[in-house]
Amino acid sequence: MSNLHPDLARIMITVEEIQERVGELADQISEDYSGVERIYIIGVLKGAFIFLADLTRQLRVPHVVDFMALSSYGRTTVSGAVRIVMDLREPIEGQHVLIVEDIVDSGQTLSYLHNILRGRSPASLKTCALLQKERNKSDVPIDYLGFRIPDVWVVGYGLDFADKHRTLPYIAEMKK
Ligand code: PRP
Repeated sequence: MSNLHPDLARIMITVEEIQERVGELADQISEDYSGVERIYIIGVLKGAFIFLADLTRQLRVPHVVDFMALSSYGRTTVSGAVRIVMDLREPIEGQHVLIVEDIVDSGQTLSYLHNILRGRSPASLKTCALLQKERNKSDVPIDYLGFRIPDVWVVGYGLDFADKHRTLPYIAEMKK
């Protein structure tokens, strides 16, 4: 595509494909939680904010939204430690918690978050991720998944490269 940013190799998932899949996920979540008083949605910053905004506006069940900010010292390395940069505002004991992530790559962020939140005694704990890398061997189940993608660096729709390209409306593959 001629007007694609020079950092980008190709559009991997179009605006229309994202919209359609997000609608399907919202339908499925609304159905699964139909008897529940409310869902306590936790968006993982920064990456999840656009996906979360689109997803939650299509939910047909009561829900509240909170955020956590985690940092994994960069997706470019296999290094390791995840840390909490910003925690939730309220306890989640007895709540039906749904984690909303933009991408599960190595799986270490989700695994860390799952452990922390499980320890806070929610009534239930599920995960919704827009993307999962095919190489991912996460031990944490992804209950609602948008797309499985190859092991390449992607940006847009919340995902960044050094904080660039995060607000592109589509998901694009970076040049190597
Ligand atoms: C990204 C993404 C996930 C995590 C996934 O966050 O938003 O939270 O990496 O990687 P993993 O499965 O290998 O742990 P990042 O640390 O880049 O922060 P950001 O969302 O603020 O950009």
